[in-house]
Amino acid sequence: MDERATWATRIGFILAAAGSAVGLGNIWRFPFLTGESGGAAFLVVYLLLVVGVGVPVLLVEFVIGRRSNRNPIGAFERLGHPGWKAAGAVGAIAAFIIFSYYSVVGGWVIQYVVASFTGGYGADAEAFFLSTASGTNAIAYHGLFMTTVAGIVALGIRNGLEKAATVMVPTVVVLLVGLAGYGATLDGAGAAYSYYLAPDLSTIVGDAVSILPAAAGQAFYTLSLGMGIMITYASYIGEDRNLLQDAGVIVVLDTAIALLAGLVVFPFLFTQGIEPGEGGAGSIFISLAGAFQQLPGGEILGGVFFLMLLVAALTSAFSIFEVVVSYVTDTFDVDRVPTAIGMAAVLFVVGIPTAIDLSYLDAYDLFANNILLILSGLLLSIFIGWVYAGEAIEELGKGRTSDGRIEAVWLTTLRYVVPVVLAITLALSVRDYIG
Ligand code: PHE
Ligand code: NA
Repeated sequence: MDERATWATRIGFILAAAGSAVGLGNIWRFPFLTGESGGAAFLVVYLLLVVGVGVPVLLVEFVIGRRSNRNPIGAFERLGHPGWKAAGAVGAIAAFIIFSYYSVVGGWVIQYVVASFTGGYGADAEAFFLSTASGTNAIAYHGLFMTTVAGIVALGIRNGLEKAATVMVPTVVVLLVGLAGYGATLDGAGAAYSYYLAPDLSTIVGDAVSILPAAAGQAFYTLSLGMGIMITYASYIGEDRNLLQDAGVIVVLDTAIALLAGLVVFPFLFTQGIEPGEGGAGSIFISLAGAFQQLPGGEILGGVFFLMLLVAALTSAFSIFEVVVSYVTDTFDVDRVPTAIGMAAVLFVVGIPTAIDLSYLDAYDLFANNILLILSGLLLSIFIGWVYAGEAIEELGKGRTSDGRIEAVWLTTLRYVVPVVLAITLALSVRDYIG
């Protein structure tokens, strides 16, 4: 993506951006964080943050990308504010850390694809998950995932795989709806729904403080924000596109898939007698493996499900890998293919600890999401809200008819709401991380 072409088709941008957004974040990370963070109260805080912070920051990245026509490093120079490159740099470090362990989780998914088609997940779904998640096999499959991503990017056949996302997204939705429907018939469904969907309003304000870091980190992670990915993708959009509409499609789709994943995971966990927080990072794998084992045709269903999850993970992985590689090629004047190979090797090594011990995975995950992404979002919102507001508003107005009201709400949100919420989040995250 070196010359400044625009997306060939109107749908191309939406597909790539949705391919980046929809991934392990929705199906793996969202349900397990919800389970660890108290269920429905987490869901409420998360949804508020997606709307109140995620949407405005997504628009910030779109505006910066389209306005500058540059990657996240060049963008701030092009806009005449080179000092703000720091926001891009924080995002690059986050992308680097996130990709190193995203690939490890991608490796788990490959192992589940293989296990589904070759006779199952053993007698004990929890034990199977633990043996999948850490150890030499976890390292080997992490290597396989990383090689696949780097290979596809280096060979330039990424477009073909992105077309697979056109099939992947509807298939994932259909499978999740089907599984959620099946989950509704299980014994544990009632308890699961009240845990997941019925917040205790009397404690929610107090709980919100402890929930905030995880919920905000997830809002950024799931929408692929704070890493310059959406800046890069938007740098290829034409001025006739309505950024607001595109953001709406992406956020609704991403949120719907996460919500559905929760509707699948919790009834299965409750029915299997597993506490919602107990499954941890294994929640989706343990609950689904248990369910597929009981369903007629479960091997095939499971195989297809995990295969689609793998496609979802790959399209997200491309978007992060692309950012990491383009930072390096732009900064050091090196070629793309050797950079892709070199970066894959470095990222593989950096990810290894998280394939040895799940507590390292947690540590990487918390640091990148709850601290770096939030910091990057804080800087971006201050930049647009206070430094670059006039031009940004003009940019957001392109491609649509506007009476300026939405722009006014957006700007006020970026000036006051987003920075205050993110500054509080950052303080709480740092305290949690140190403490
Ligand atoms: N948004 C992706 C998901 O939900 C994850 C991701 C994170 C992708 C960071 C790119 C960068 O799975
Ligand atoms: Na997502």
